[in-house]
Amino acid sequence: MQVAVIGGGYVGLVQAAIVADLGHDVMCCEIDPEKLAALQQGKTPIYEQGLDEIVARNHAKKRLIFVSDLAEATRFGEVIFICVATPANEDGSPNMDAYWDAFGKILDIPADKPKIIVNKSTVAVGTAREAQRLADEKGSNYHVVSNPEFLRQGTAVSDAYNADRIIIGAKGYAEAAALLEIYRDLNRPTFICDTTSAELIKYASNCFLASKISFINFMAELCEAYGGDVKDVARGMGMDKRIGPSFLQAGIGYGGSCFGKDVDALVHAAQLKDVRPEALLAARSVNHHQPVRFVDRIERTLGGLEGKTIALWGLAFKPETDDIRDSKAIDIANELVRRGAVVHAHDPEAMKRAAAAAPGVCFFDAHLDAAVGAEALVLATEWNVYRNTDPEEIRQRLVRPVIFDGRNMFDPVEMRRGGWKYYGVGRAE
Ligand code: UDX
Repeated sequence: MQVAVIGGGYVGLVQAAIVADLGHDVMCCEIDPEKLAALQQGKTPIYEQGLDEIVARNHAKKRLIFVSDLAEATRFGEVIFICVATPANEDGSPNMDAYWDAFGKILDIPADKPKIIVNKSTVAVGTAREAQRLADEKGSNYHVVSNPEFLRQGTAVSDAYNADRIIIGAKGYAEAAALLEIYRDLNRPTFICDTTSAELIKYASNCFLASKISFINFMAELCEAYGGDVKDVARGMGMDKRIGPSFLQAGIGYGGSCFGKDVDALVHAAQLKDVRPEALLAARSVNHHQPVRFVDRIERTLGGLEGKTIALWGLAFKPETDDIRDSKAIDIANELVRRGAVVHAHDPEAMKRAAAAAPGVCFFDAHLDAAVGAEALVLATEWNVYRNTDPEEIRQRLVRPVIFDGRNMFDPVEMRRGGWKYYGVGRAE
């Protein structure tokens, strides 16, 4: 099948690469000249495990080509995926400017036979319905389908190949058929529903996961208050099949480019229709307070932060990425500085980006160097390099063996046996 992908960013490039790898001919349209130049040489401008190899392989086979002209890609594609950015507006709603711009340009190219436009980007609820109305009004041959992505950063390629489900929102089976054909060889469970439900499934999934994290963080606070262990609480809860064990890791709160944005967008969507968004407001509020609560605990335990040197390990919103968007580790760094601490930070990948976001922080190339002379170690992102460091090596560098483990990465019993004062999130002291 001939497939066009509009937008060669994170979502678009992964989509284009996977679809080409499934044996289809893909033309991907990217307007940024620098990105385009790299892509046209078969190089991947973003880092995502396994992606560069798939892009290079399919580019070499000429199954994946890159152009700057949206009209050329539109003419080429029997199916056209819109993968442009939909960043958040001030009020939390997704900014749909790039989407409507691309959609309008596609509609301007007459289709002599029925073609499918696929909304891959996360869009405002009701977008596909409105887009279809506009297409019909023009008497065009385009059918709008919703096919949200659920990829996690760092594991996007394997997530695509092993997707729990493929969601196709379409007016009917005929409109969904082209997507079924594209994804056939993936052989993943597929659910077809109407377009608005598909758009809501995307938001519902991310917001539910965010709520799950906030719920366990609330339980963590209760564990601290009553003397329980949140890891055991999560384990016991997770053994109930209806709940499941994943996304129950208490910590400093969720971050990244999706959860916060999608919670805000669904709150906004609810308010637009006078639906009360209290459930989500609670999840958002817990997440907002999690880093503050964590720093409060550090301050209380150390008897103040003014002038104290604190080692901070981890700045990215999760391991295996240099992304610091909405990173709670950055919030913690800034809050520590605001309260007078001298922060010595390290992250294996995110320091370059963090420099602008946490200007009061001193950065160290080696994680153990950041620990030298510090009154305590704060662990904010659970990188393997930290996990694999001998606690004795850390201890020798700190003024006192005190650790605030924001990801519950270390074993409290082992640490205390090794002479550490260990403070996890939701773990009895
Ligand atoms: C998420 C969704 O998982 C994905 O389906 C969607 O398409 C995009 O958003 P991503 O942002 O890459 O993916 O990160 P994810 O691995 O889901 O983690 C998000 C945040 O939650 C991280 O800050 C992580 O540390 C935190 N988290 C996750 C917890 O605090 N506890 C958990 O149990 C799980």
